Amino acid sequence: MEHGQSHRAVQSERHAAVRLLKALMVASVLLPMALFAITAWVDYRNFERITNERIDRSLDILHEHSLKVLETTERAYAEVNEVVRGMSDNDIRLNEAALNKRLKQIVTGTPQMQGIEIIDRDGHPLVSSNGLLTPGDIDFSKAEYFTALKSREGGTYVSTINAPRPGVPGYFISLSQRRPWDDGTFNGVISIAVPTSYFENFYAHISDTVDYFALVRADGHFLARYPVVSPASLLSFDDDKDFRTRIAHGHDYSIYTAESPYDHITRRIGYRKIAGYPLYVLVGVEWKAIVSEWLRYNINYLIFGAPLMVFLFAVLGLALRRTQRLYDESERREAVENALRHAQRMEAIGQLTGGVAHDFNNLLMIISGSVQRLRRELTDKKSLRLLDMIGTATHRGETLTRHLLTYSRRQTLTPEVIDLAQRLPVLRELLTRSLRTDIEINVEVPDTVCAVRVDPSEFELAILNLAVNAKDAMPNGGALSMSARPVTLKGDASEEGLSGDFVAVYVADTGQGIPADVMMRVFEPFFTTKDVSKGTGLGLSQVYGFAKQSGGTATVTSTEGQGTTVTLYLPRSLEQPQPAEPPLQAPAQAEAAGTVLLVEDDVDVADVGASYMRQLGYRVRSVADVQAALAALQVDAQVDLVFSDIMMPGGRNGLDLAREIGERFPHIPVLLTTGYSASAQDAARYGVVVLQKPYDLESLRRHVREAMEQARVPPAALGVAG
Ligand SMILES: Nc1ncnc2c1ncn2[C@@H]1O[C@H](COP(=O)(O)OP(=O)(O)OP(=O)(O)O)[C@@H](O)[C@H]1O
Ligand SMILES: [Mg+2]
Repeated sequence: MEHGQSHRAVQSERHAAVRLLKALMVASVLLPMALFAITAWVDYRNFERITNERIDRSLDILHEHSLKVLETTERAYAEVNEVVRGMSDNDIRLNEAALNKRLKQIVTGTPQMQGIEIIDRDGHPLVSSNGLLTPGDIDFSKAEYFTALKSREGGTYVSTINAPRPGVPGYFISLSQRRPWDDGTFNGVISIAVPTSYFENFYAHISDTVDYFALVRADGHFLARYPVVSPASLLSFDDDKDFRTRIAHGHDYSIYTAESPYDHITRRIGYRKIAGYPLYVLVGVEWKAIVSEWLRYNINYLIFGAPLMVFLFAVLGLALRRTQRLYDESERREAVENALRHAQRMEAIGQLTGGVAHDFNNLLMIISGSVQRLRRELTDKKSLRLLDMIGTATHRGETLTRHLLTYSRRQTLTPEVIDLAQRLPVLRELLTRSLRTDIEINVEVPDTVCAVRVDPSEFELAILNLAVNAKDAMPNGGALSMSARPVTLKGDASEEGLSGDFVAVYVADTGQGIPADVMMRVFEPFFTTKDVSKGTGLGLSQVYGFAKQSGGTATVTSTEGQGTTVTLYLPRSLEQPQPAEPPLQAPAQAEAAGTVLLVEDDVDVADVGASYMRQLGYRVRSVADVQAALAALQVDAQVDLVFSDIMMPGGRNGLDLAREIGERFPHIPVLLTTGYSASAQDAARYGVVVLQKPYDLESLRRHVREAMEQARVPPAALGVAG
């Protein structure tokens, strides 16, 4: 309906708002994180590029420096060759002192050279810059550089690191070249000692952000390294696999990242070959330093970004919580308002129908009473048939008003404690007879006792009404399932705010279901979707009224096209339930005669009552109000029963009368009658027997007997006797 539609629209709008807030919360985290990741990555690539450039620049410097050293030695070779040109080994030996001085001159002032030595073709030194030689005592013919140079032409041989020796105070490498004859054949070696400290000092001097330098021979032997490792280990072979595999593949230049086997530091390393020499210069930057610099740079984003992100997230979270709470609150309020509106509507309809039904009841009593009287007086068949028709119609009318009274909760109930776990299976029989064969009936009850205090016949009627509805909803057959189980309610709006221990009775069908717009109105009296002849719209009203009056409620849930479930919540009782089938009472006999004092303000109703009483064999005296009744009892106490309506004019009602009689004439039985349940319940509380209007002869007979029995053992008599 209109209301339902706008409610759904509001609801979906709320859901959208909540979803948007949630999405914003996620975005408030994800977006800055993604931005941060991207900038961090870009920065990282930048740092890598900058580092590579730095390495390249350092390689240039190192390369330049090494070349200078090599050029100096080249010049020294040329000079020495010039000095000894045309001299035989013997000439040199004879001129040793002068040549030693000359060589010393070449070495002095060039820190990259520590000494020069000329060696003859057999490996014996001829002259050295470091002092005069003792002839014949040293033989270099087995030295690596000597054999290498002897077997090949041209080029410079670079040795590994040599330990200090007399005349050469520090670690050094020697660079040697052939001393050729004029015809170019091997005539010995000129060897120059270059101190490793010369390189190391330079490296230390230029080390800054680039902090690793090395001079390495093509076979991987380190000739100089910074930071300086203990010289002994420098002499060993550096197993730098990355470097060695790269040069093995013929790469003269490369940049890579590797961990040093010496100090286990991971570095970004670049190397370059020195053209014309089997030498490489290496430059490295500690990887950790690059990363930490990058981190330091990026942490700034985090320092400013993270608190902002957290703040935004928190603000959104707060907004979400507030919004949700607000929505929850208003939804709860709407539910309560709806429930209240519904309840008020039902109450209003109830009062209206109740009033109408009450007056209707009195009319029906007159009609049915008159019919019974006429039946005894008329004998011709035609009139009797007419009377039958009137009787049937009145009976239907009575059933109708009974439903209305139930709905308006003015029905007089005779509650008993019954166990639904036992009662439901019994009802199955009744239903099997009244439903079609294409409807399967399932009943399921728990092992536990499901005791409730209700009027058993009203309960049966409610179940029957539900079953008939289910039958109508399943024109092509289906299943009807009934079950009961104890439940504890917690004041939910869907159960009309009930809380406590209840027994829930479910009656479910597999029928066509109830459309949403019909749903709100199904419990209203006279609401029906069926044809005029088929439905009165009072079935569910009876169910609802009965459940309400019994202290519970009824709810309905339905899925269109799949079925409907009506649930009755009845308060659980702790009393001992009565057996399912009460023993049948013996048919009443004609009672012993006596006098009845009939108290009734409505003349016609009084007439009917009197007629019934006469049929039961009583003499009847009629009065119209309480005052008159008491006066009659005062003058003539020969009354065997007082039969009074409860509602009466004159300020005092039937209940007051019963109380007064209980005090002044305790031996006289009193039977009250009414169409209002509230007054009936009041009376029942005082222990007075009450007959519900409209009544027939049979129920009047039963109640008269009950009243008589009660007067024999009046509950108050015990108190009086004591
Ligand atoms: N089990 C059900 N499946 C589908 N619709 C149902 C069911 N029970 C009730 N209804 C709907 O609720 C309306 C009211 O039901 P209710 O029992 O009060 O009256 P009725 O069945 O129309 O008439 P009545 O019961 O007085 O003969 C029905 O007309 C029907 O539209
Ligand atoms: Mg019905």
